[in-house]
Amino acid sequence: MNYSIKNICCIGAGYVGGPTMAMMAYKCPNLIFNVVDINKERVAAWNAKDLSKLPIFEPGLKEIIASSRNKNLFFSSEIKEAIKSADVVFISVNTPTKTKGVGAGKSSDLKWVEACAREVAKYSKGHTIVVEKSTLPVRTAEVIQKILNSPKTNFNGEKISFSVLSNPEFLAEGTAINDLENPDRVLIGGEDQKAMFKLAEIYKAWVPEDKILFTNIWSSELAKLTSNAFLAQRISSINSISAICEVTGADIREVSRAIGKDSRIGSKFLDSGPGFGGSCFKKDILNLVYLAEYFGLKEVAKFWEEVVNINTWNQSRIAKIVVKKLFGTISDKKIVILGFAFKANTNDTRESAAIKICRDLIEEGAELVIHDPKVSQIQIENDLKIKPLSNDYDKNSDSRDNNIGSWRFSNSLDIFENANAVLVLTEWQEYKDIPWDLIAKQMIKPAWLFDSRSIVDYKLVKKTDLNFWRLGDGSQEEQKEKY
Ligand code: UDX
Ligand code: UDX
Repeated sequence: MNYSIKNICCIGAGYVGGPTMAMMAYKCPNLIFNVVDINKERVAAWNAKDLSKLPIFEPGLKEIIASSRNKNLFFSSEIKEAIKSADVVFISVNTPTKTKGVGAGKSSDLKWVEACAREVAKYSKGHTIVVEKSTLPVRTAEVIQKILNSPKTNFNGEKISFSVLSNPEFLAEGTAINDLENPDRVLIGGEDQKAMFKLAEIYKAWVPEDKILFTNIWSSELAKLTSNAFLAQRISSINSISAICEVTGADIREVSRAIGKDSRIGSKFLDSGPGFGGSCFKKDILNLVYLAEYFGLKEVAKFWEEVVNINTWNQSRIAKIVVKKLFGTISDKKIVILGFAFKANTNDTRESAAIKICRDLIEEGAELVIHDPKVSQIQIENDLKIKPLSNDYDKNSDSRDNNIGSWRFSNSLDIFENANAVLVLTEWQEYKDIPWDLIAKQMIKPAWLFDSRSIVDYKLVKKTDLNFWRLGDGSQEEQKEKY
C-alpha cells in the first residue's frame, strides 16, 4: 500500500479548516493543500484579493494566506477533483446539534460528515488516509469506516482502501494562528500505526516530537470533548462564584487571582464573564451528556448538563441586573452595547452571550445601539432575528408595538450621546481605552456603566458621576450608587 503524502484535501473551509490548512501549507511548502467547501461565497471570500475580505477575522491569518495562497494552498468548490488527487483527506465540516429526531437538542447531526465520507468513498483512488478534524461524538470513526469500506472500489471500478484517524483541533478563535503554530499538543488517534506516523510527519515540520501524542481512536475523540467540557466547566464554576461575590462583598478578580496561584488549579480560564459562547463548548458538552445518557450514566449526564444550565442562567442574570439598576424599567431607554462577538479578536458570534442578553433587553423595551469592530450588521440581524432600525430613523413617526424595544447598529464609537446606560459584553482592546471621563458628560443622568468583562478602567470611572457595576464585584465602594 502506498502511504506517501503529497496532496492533501480538506473538506470544510470554516473557522477550523481554513486556518489549520493555511498553517500546514505555510509550514510545508512541498505539499499541496486543496481546501474545498460547498459554500461558493465562502470560497470566493477565501480567494479575495483584498485580504481584509477573508471570511474569517483572525490575527496573523492574512499574512500566512498571502504567503501560501495559489502557491501550495488552493481554495475551491472542486470537491471531487480534490478528493481524486488526495493522499490525505481532512474532514472539517460543521456538526451542529440535532434539532429533531433521536438525540434532538443534545447529539450532533452527522449528516455532513456522512455525506463527506460518501464522497470520499466514491472519488478517492488507491489508499487514502481520512482524518476527522471536526469535533465528533465518540465512535464516529466507526461510522466513517463503515461508509468508506462498503464499496471496496471507486466510481471507476478501481480498488480503494482507507485508514481512518482522529486528529482533533484544539485552536481557540482569536488566537488560532498562535495556537496552530505553538500547540500544547497534537493528538493523533487511530489503529493503523503507519498512517499515524505519516500524519505526524506533516506536523513534525514545526511541532516538537514530544508534543505529538498517539492514542487509540476512541480516546482521541473523547479527549477532545473532555478538554472542551473541562474548560467550559471552569467558566461556569467561576461565574457561579462571581454571583456569590456580589452578595457577600467579595471580588471575583481577587478570588480568581488567589485560587489561580495554586499550581494545581492554574490561573488560566478563570475570568468571570457574561457566559461562554463559541461553536464548541455547549455543543460538545451536550454531546457528552447524550453519550452518558445513552449508556445509562444518568448522574454523569446531570453533572455535565449543569455546566450548560449555569451558563444560560448567567446570561439571563446580566439582563435582569441591567433592568433592576435602571429602576426596574428600560422601556425607551438608550443602552449602548459594546461588543457582540463571543470573545475578542474574532468576527464569530455563534452562541455569543450577547445574543440572549440583547434579545432580553429588547424584549424589555430598550433601544439598543450595538457596536462591534468586526461583526457586521447583517450577522447581528441573523442572530437576533429582529430587524434593525435604520440610523436615520424618525422616532416620532414610529408605528411599532410600543411594548418591544429596538436595536440599531453602529460601526463608530460616537454613540454615547443621551445614553442611559452602557453594557460591555466583549473584551475588545478598543473598549479598554474609552475615555469614560469624557463619555460620562454625554450620557443622561443617572447613567450606568455595566462591565461584564472587567476591562473598564474603574479608577477613571470613579472620578466621574457614572454609576458603575461590574460582574462579581461585591465590594461596597465600587457598587455604591451616585444618585
Ligand atoms: C466546525 C464545528 O463547529 C467544530 O465543532 C468542528 O470541530 C469543526 O467544524 P468550524 O470550522 O468553526 O467548525 O465550522 P464552520 O465555520 O461552520 O465551517 C464548516 C464548513 O464546512 C462550512 O464552510 C460549510 O460550508 C462546509 N461544509 C459543510 C462543506 O463544505 N460540505 C458539507 O457537506 C458541509
Ligand atoms: C474553545 C477551546 O478553547 C478550543 O481549545 C477548542 O478547539 C474550541 O473551543 P473557542 O471557543 O474558540 O475555543 O474560545 P475560548 O477562548 O475557549 O472561549 C470560549 C468562551 O469562553 C468565550 O465566550 C470566552 O469569552 C469565554 N471565556 C474564556 C470566559 O468567559 N472566561 C475565560 O476565562 C475564558
